[in-house]
Amino acid sequence: MSFKRSEKLLGRARKSLAGGVSSHFRALDKPFPMFFEKARGATIVDADGNRYLDYTLSQGPMILGHSCPEILKAVRAELARGQLFAGQHEGEIRLAELFQRHVPCADMTRFSLTGSEAIQTVLRLARAHTNRVKYIKFEGHYHGWFDNVLISVAPAASDAGPEESPEAVGMTRGQSPSVLEEVIVLPWNNLDVLRRTMQRREREIAAVLMEPVMCNSGCIAPREGYLEGVRDLCDRTGIPLIFDEIITGFRCSLGGAQGMYGVTPDLATFGKAMAGGFPISAIAGKRHLMELIANGQVMHAGTFNTYNLGVAASVAAIERLRLGRGAVYRQLHRMGKHLMEGIRRIARDQNQPILVQGPGPVFHVGFTDRSAVQDYRQCRSYDGARYGRLVQAMRERGIRLIGRGIWYISAAHTEEDIERTLATFPEALRVSSP
Ligand SMILES: Cc1ncc(COP(=O)(O)O)c(C=O)c1O
Repeated sequence: MSFKRSEKLLGRARKSLAGGVSSHFRALDKPFPMFFEKARGATIVDADGNRYLDYTLSQGPMILGHSCPEILKAVRAELARGQLFAGQHEGEIRLAELFQRHVPCADMTRFSLTGSEAIQTVLRLARAHTNRVKYIKFEGHYHGWFDNVLISVAPAASDAGPEESPEAVGMTRGQSPSVLEEVIVLPWNNLDVLRRTMQRREREIAAVLMEPVMCNSGCIAPREGYLEGVRDLCDRTGIPLIFDEIITGFRCSLGGAQGMYGVTPDLATFGKAMAGGFPISAIAGKRHLMELIANGQVMHAGTFNTYNLGVAASVAAIERLRLGRGAVYRQLHRMGKHLMEGIRRIARDQNQPILVQGPGPVFHVGFTDRSAVQDYRQCRSYDGARYGRLVQAMRERGIRLIGRGIWYISAAHTEEDIERTLATFPEALRVSSP
């Protein structure tokens, strides 16, 4: 496989585009940030013409595969009507009604463009509702790249402090130090620590914010009863519970993780899969909270909010996802499980310490001797360098993976794709072994 053109493009890009990329995380791609030319279904083609079976799915959004015909058709039809009206159009009602119908917490909805923005809106709402500032954030959870949430996402062991009362650790130069005062960082999946903190500091806390499945660090499921326990604590104290469903929304089920686990938050954010590759995000919430936006007490705005193409794409994506009473999700879960079990079996056969965990439509693969990883600190046992070698070996065999261990499956992946992946995995695993 040659990557010459990609390398050449990166060299050229670095002269005009900071770092040669447009997102921090893309700069971390190993062995170097690649360039791509086209993508369709489960296949993506790089600038040198190499074809890959794609499990990155653009970091999650392409739940219906690349260039999904239904989405593109809807977007083309919408283009003929215009792009942005700075006024309302019927599509956005349709989209809000789809949320109302399928997302348990969605009494009402508002739309914006990115997940990071949506997170800011729910925090503002929770603060307005409680008249408090601090919010509870969990170690290892990612809620976008803005100052006030880019905290303790991947803190080094030397900075992170005690396990049950972690330090708030910033992630970038230039981040305002004052944001560290606005957050109480806790270990996730530990109900006792949360209960004690909420009892002690109830009057300071505006919200409890979490990824309901910790997809960004090890794709860790909530412990049995954990979400219910958090819901109960929030009910007792009146502190809003916020699920960040930017990854899990429309991926784990039509109703997101809240639909899958049967625990309804007060507010939730959506993005990524909700429009199958077009930028649009949503906040959805209970009426008494969303009323603060409805009556203008809490401001939410954006020039490009509900631009026609994003709305059309999202309506088309959700309409497609809800066909056949959950058929797409049954397929995603079935294929995900099959792939996860296959990887486990191959690792066992080769006596390799691989742990595979996650709901199925999204899951995580990593090298560790642990039999389970249940919080961020346990994620540190993963051997990232070794996984990097596996990613490289898979790529050389035509399968594209995300370097940090998370795998996404789309409705465009076929049983044959899964079998091909499992047929490729043993050799890639051998090659990447120390
Ligand atoms: C759970 C979660 N929340 C928020 C975000 C931020 O979304 P965006 O990158 O669209 O701003 C991400 C992005 O990966 C995410 O995974």
